[in-house]
Order: sequence, then structure tokens, then C-alpha cells
Amino acid sequence: MILVAGSANLDFVVSARHIPAPGETVLGEHFQTFPGGKGANQAVACARASGAETHMLLALGRDDFAKPLTDALSQAGVVQHTVWSEQPTGCAFICVSSGGDNAITVAPGANAALRPEHLASHVGALTGVSHLLMQLETPLQTVACYAKAAREAGVQVVLNAAPAQPLPSDLLTNVDVLVVNEGELFAVVQAKTGQQPLSITLALQALDVPAVVVTLGARGSCAWVNNTLVAQPSFQVDVVDTTGAGDTFCGALTGALSQGIEMAQALRTASAAGALACTQLGAQSSMPTAQTVAQFLEQHRPAQDSAVHSLLAYCSASPSP
Ligand code: RIB
Repeated sequence: MILVAGSANLDFVVSARHIPAPGETVLGEHFQTFPGGKGANQAVACARASGAETHMLLALGRDDFAKPLTDALSQAGVVQHTVWSEQPTGCAFICVSSGGDNAITVAPGANAALRPEHLASHVGALTGVSHLLMQLETPLQTVACYAKAAREAGVQVVLNAAPAQPLPSDLLTNVDVLVVNEGELFAVVQAKTGQQPLSITLALQALDVPAVVVTLGARGSCAWVNNTLVAQPSFQVDVVDTTGAGDTFCGALTGALSQGIEMAQALRTASAAGALACTQLGAQSSMPTAQTVAQFLEQHRPAQDSAVHSLLAYCSASPSP
């Protein structure tokens, strides 16, 4: 069983031709609300894309914004352990450009009320939990305490260090699988070593974590595990909205790892799930089922050697200044 501990937000999404620059006003097109939050997105992705039994520890406000979030989690089959807070339910304000890019501002609200003691009070002992999946939209101290408790209980800790921030060393010590994008990887390594890494490959190797996975957007993803670099080029899809694609990747990856699937195949499954999540508007609304992922993988051959080589070459090149 997988336990996700993290954020849940109601996403206020507006599509516009482009994302406004500072001081600019743009006239948008459609407006919709969607269930979101990195934690809830990853829990839904895990349950849907892998079919694994998924629980979530989350904090919500006692307001109307909470219901669509709990409904979406229930619909995906995620068992909820909810801390009810006097703070308002978390919200995210998202602008999606016609190219599918996004800019997100989060008002954490109740997510900031998730405390170290809530693991024991709302979940109890971690009996039956194989993996704990977390992100950084809840307080860092809470994340660090949960990781420590999981390590002590023999539970594998998967941390998606997003949004980027310096990580305390006592948190990284208790992480088994770290998932970051390129910017987050460089931020974590620079905070740890005090130096800008010379390449993605060297950055992956600089962290004392058993497995480090970096997502590279349209290029694909790589993992440094057992002293080996595993590369998975991306799948080409028609992009509508990239919101939640990284979360889908993390949820699907954790689901696959919990089923004993080795990293190379888990990366391929997570990449397929993440690609499919880009083809519709919204975060959770676009997450594929295990059956859809399996069909997509059947229709797509394993990556060609040339694609793998160019991804590896990108990882060993110096970052652009
Ligand atoms: O990763 C996407 C998510 O980030 C959105 O759903 C939004 O709620 C923010 O948490």
C-alpha cells in the first residue's frame, strides 16, 4: 500500500494566449476549476495509473472548496486521512498558455496546517505501507518528520522536491527515491555542495540518495540508480496542458516501484502516464488509468538508441548559463 502525504488545492485555471509578464494584463479565454495540489494529484495518479492501493494524509479547510477535492480522491479510490483545519482549503491560480505551458501561484491555506503529529493521530502505525510519497507544498519540518518515521518503519520514502527549496540534510538522509526536475536538481545539489554542478549526470551523482530521478520535460527523464544512469526519452503527444504531468509521473512511478517493477520499466510507465496527462486540460482530470497506459505502451516501441544517446549527451553537457 502507498501512503501519499501532501497538499490538496482547488485549481482556478484560465487559458490565455500567453502567460502575463510582470505588470501585464492579458485577456484570458476559458475559466474552470479543477481538483489539484501536488499531493492529491500524485495520489490520484498513483491509484489510477497503477491500480495500487493508495491512501492520502491531507489537510483541508471547512469550506466549499474542500468537497470537490475529497470527491475526486474518492472517485479515484484514494482512502483519505483528513486533518480538518480552521484555515481555508488550499488554492492554486493557474494560467495556461496556448502552447500548454503554465504559471502557478499557490495559496497553501490548510496545507500549512499539516503537522508532524498528524501522521500518528490520523494514520497510525505505518503497518502495510510499502512506500511513502511526499512533495514540498506542506511544511518542510512535517515532511522531514514523516520521512524519519517511515525510514524507522522500513517504508521506502519517495520525495518529489517540488516546488524547489533547499532541503535539510536530515530529510535527504531518509529519502530512498528523489524525483526532481532539472531546476530543482540543480537547486538541491547547489544547496548541498555550495557549487553549481557541471552537468545533470554529475548532479545526479552528487546526492547521497539511493535513486535520483530527473524529469526533463519534452526531452524525457533519467535515473541514477545502483551506479547506473537509466535514460527514458519522452513520448511525443499533442500537448494541451502540462499541469500535473510531473505529478502524474511521480504517482505512476511510485505505483510501479511498489509493484516491484525495476527502475527502467518504471520510468517508461511513468513517462507514458505523464505524456498522456498533457493531452487534456486540468491536473487530475487528465490522469490515465492503468489500462490506458498499458495500451499506449503497446502502441509505442521502446525508444530508439539514437534518442537514448541524445538524452544521455544532454545530461553530460554543461548547463547553459
Ligand atoms: O503540479 C501541479 C499542481 O501544482 C497544481 O494542481 C496546483 O495545485 C499546484 O499545487
